[in-house]
Amino acid sequence: MQSDVENLIQKYREIPGGLVPLLQETQEEVGYLPREVLEKIASGLNLSLAKVVGVATFYHQFYLQPRGKNIIRVCMGTACHVRGASDILAAFEKELNIEVGETTLDQNFTLEEVACIGACSLAPVISINDNTHGKLVAGKIPELLGKYEKAVLH
Ligand code: FES
Repeated sequence: MQSDVENLIQKYREIPGGLVPLLQETQEEVGYLPREVLEKIASGLNLSLAKVVGVATFYHQFYLQPRGKNIIRVCMGTACHVRGASDILAAFEKELNIEVGETTLDQNFTLEEVACIGACSLAPVISINDNTHGKLVAGKIPELLGKYEKAVLH
C-alpha cells in the first residue's frame, strides 16, 4: 500500500491541481484516506496537512474512516420520506447497532443516507452496493442483511 501511495504521489507531484485526483486514486487504492496517508500526501506535495485535510473533508466523495464491504444507502428523498424512510433507517441502525454514517465493527456494513436515487415508484427504497431494493418493510431487513453477510463469507 505504501509504495502504491508513493507512486501516486510521484505521478501527481508536478501537476497543478493534482491534489483532488491524487486523493481520488489513493482512495481507490486504499479504500479510504487514513491520516497517515494524508500526511504522506501533504509532505509529498509540499502542502500543509491542514490544506490536504481541508480538501479531503470538503468533498463528500472522500472518506477519512474505513468503510464496510457492503454500503447500505437509505433514500431519504421526498417520496421515500412520506413512505416511511425514517423508520427504515432507524430499523437498520437498530439491526446493525450503528448510527447513520458509521461502519459495523466487523467492517461488513456502512450505513449512509442519500437523496432520491431515482426509483421513487418503489419507495421506500434503499440500495446495497449496486443493488436497489424497493418497497422495503422494516421486518425484511434482517433477512436482507443475512444475504449480504453470506455473500461476504463465501
Ligand atoms: S425519493 Fe427515494 S427514490 Fe426517489
